[in-house]
Amino acid sequence: MSAPDRGELLRAPLFHTPRNPFAEQRALECHWDGGLLIRDGRVAACGDYQTVRAAHPEAATTNWRGGFLLPGLVDTHVHFPQVRVLGCLGRSLLDWLDQCALPEEARMADESYARGIACEFVRALASHGTTTALAFGAHFLPATAALFEAAQASGLRVISGLVVSDRGLHPELHQTPEQAHRASAELIGRFHGRGRLHYAVTPRFALSTSEGMLEVCQSLLREHPGLRVQTHLNENPAEIAEVARLFPWASDYLAVYERFGLIGPRAVMAHNVHPSEAELERLAASRATIAHCPCSNAALGSGLFPMRRHLQAGVRFALGTDVGGGTGFGILKEALHAYLFQRTVPEGLSLDPAQLLYLATRAGAEALGLDAETGDFQPGKAADLVYLRPPAGSPLAGVMAQAEDPEQALAALLTLAGQESVAEVRVEGSVVYRSAA
Ligand code: GUN
Ligand code: ZN
Repeated sequence: MSAPDRGELLRAPLFHTPRNPFAEQRALECHWDGGLLIRDGRVAACGDYQTVRAAHPEAATTNWRGGFLLPGLVDTHVHFPQVRVLGCLGRSLLDWLDQCALPEEARMADESYARGIACEFVRALASHGTTTALAFGAHFLPATAALFEAAQASGLRVISGLVVSDRGLHPELHQTPEQAHRASAELIGRFHGRGRLHYAVTPRFALSTSEGMLEVCQSLLREHPGLRVQTHLNENPAEIAEVARLFPWASDYLAVYERFGLIGPRAVMAHNVHPSEAELERLAASRATIAHCPCSNAALGSGLFPMRRHLQAGVRFALGTDVGGGTGFGILKEALHAYLFQRTVPEGLSLDPAQLLYLATRAGAEALGLDAETGDFQPGKAADLVYLRPPAGSPLAGVMAQAEDPEQALAALLTLAGQESVAEVRVEGSVVYRSAA
């Protein structure tokens, strides 16, 4: 019989948002001399260090003062086959797909190449503090299986699925609806619900899917309980016009997905930069979530996310990096850019640090139906965390050494903590990344 786990007590300033700061005052919890007790991979207690220590004298303390603890970050929109597309600037969506993204995605037909990229991808997630991701797979079954296998080996929580398309892309990326159904069902059987993996039905976007393919997506959802859905919505004006031409019966872009039963609480739609009021109303009623990807929206010139309209309509949203249309794997960077763009758009919001942290963590967990498991440090949840330690001599180290107000300190972390500050990342208490420094 193994000895009972006495627990590890991490001592560091810690921040989390166990409540929604868009809906409630004082949703941010901060413990400046914090204690996070981990036992059997779960959060056993979270509070002031001395209080937790006194209640659990048997636990071994790890002194992490000098750094900061946040819940593991959640990326609700990222493309695994696009790691090496990052930095392809200067194009709008449809040209960028044609010239940058799709040629690289076609290389995923080579299984051994895809395996290498899958390893790079999960390593990049972990090294940026992301513990949970909703990721587009590839258009090929073996490459998508390689992603699931790399994710399983990494320990991260990954929800993904075969990307299905039968028109409008480069022909080597197309499958027939029958092939897509067969391959998706095989991947669901192999990976959905295995450890921390889940499956998401993944039509690339309305522009690349016939009605027959959307029917396949609907069938998969009916046949396999618990699946998520991910796709793109209202990203770019030229895309929206083309969708209207391809689906003349649809009153708007969202109506295409609605017709095939794809919109609901487990659906995550990326972008939604150009929604109508009617679409916002229906999205709110459906409880679907928008993956807001501010860096991608700027890099591809897609436009400025109407956050105030989403909030007023009651539409849920969380953050996504949209690698490789975006500019990297940092979810804290996305939070900062969400803030910056809202500061500059007409009718923009002034987001506070609690709201930004929530968007980077718990809002994503809620979007993915994983908020009972991850997203904050409430006792009973999995100990998914990122330990940020500013490099000695860095501007962030200097700012934090002088910080007196916890909210200001969190704002500085959101502004300045990049990959170089990620010291350790854990999922369910187990290390998934530790920096060499
Ligand atoms: N719409 C369809 N495919 C893509 C993609 O790969 N990236 C983005 N940003 N939008 C898309
Ligand atoms: Zn995308």
